[in-house]
Amino acid sequence: MIKTMLIERIVPLSFTVVLATLPAHANEALIAAGEQQALVCKACHQIEEGGVTVVGPPLWGLAERNIAGFDGYPYSEALKKHTGSWDASSLDAFLAAPSEFSPGTNMVFPGVKDPGARAAIIAWLATKNPTPPDWVTASSGTEIKSVGDGILTPDDNMTLVAAACSSCHSLHLVVQQGLSKDSWDETLEWMVDEQGMDPLPAEEHEKVLIYLAKHYGE
Ligand code: HEC
Ligand code: HEC
Repeated sequence: MIKTMLIERIVPLSFTVVLATLPAHANEALIAAGEQQALVCKACHQIEEGGVTVVGPPLWGLAERNIAGFDGYPYSEALKKHTGSWDASSLDAFLAAPSEFSPGTNMVFPGVKDPGARAAIIAWLATKNPTPPDWVTASSGTEIKSVGDGILTPDDNMTLVAAACSSCHSLHLVVQQGLSKDSWDETLEWMVDEQGMDPLPAEEHEKVLIYLAKHYGE
């Protein structure tokens, strides 16, 4: 299980689709892009039918339950304050900045800043319902950027680093450091031992270190 998760999380997140004229529910490319973008969510959520609580509640059937409505999940008081059910616009606001939508939420995740990526994730989440709703956001159809675009230096393995390092904090925390390869190695070890990061497979670990030392070296 953990192994599968790791493999899924290192798949590159970059995916470009511009299909502004098609409605999102009919848009296979947008849904496929959303699935790629949502790899980061799988660190904490199960999404398929029959999913169970991991760190966060399972996300199957979101359209058919209330916000904070999965039976038995210990939601924060912050999220429980919201009434009604999830729809495209509330999901868009929540995923853009979880702690602004719901100050005090336990979803410790910096958010998906790119509107195109959010639209894709939401279109894909819609398919994870017994009767998929037509979840279209204002930015459905805009270009989708990799989570690292505009923050990390473009190079081989940028998307790998973005996928490995964006689920708990902003990538700005990464780019503001300047460390030797050995010190990056120590930082990653600390991330795994003390901060709950899943260890990367050896080969990916090495690629991440090379990328970090090259672009954010001493
Ligand atoms: C680091 C772990 C983590 C990551 C990464 C994460 N979530 Fe969450 N998520 C949580 C937790 C914990 C909660 C419960 C929040 C609360 O109770 O305040 C939650 C709650 C939610 C909810 C509300 C569910 C409900 O039943 O009302 C949605 C929707 C959601 N997350 C979607 C996502 C999506 C989509 C992504 C990826 C873009 C994502 N999450 C990434 C941990 C995470
Ligand atoms: C499972 C969650 C998690 C993941 C994944 C993660 N980190 Fe972190 N990281 C943390 C936490 C928690 C902190 C402390 C945050 C703070 O001080 O605000 C942190 C802090 C940092 C810092 C600042 C260290 C300092 O001395 O202030 C750097 C740099 C960093 N992480 C780099 C990375 C890199 C590079 C990756 C990907 C290879 C990564 N992180 C992945 C949880 C994570």
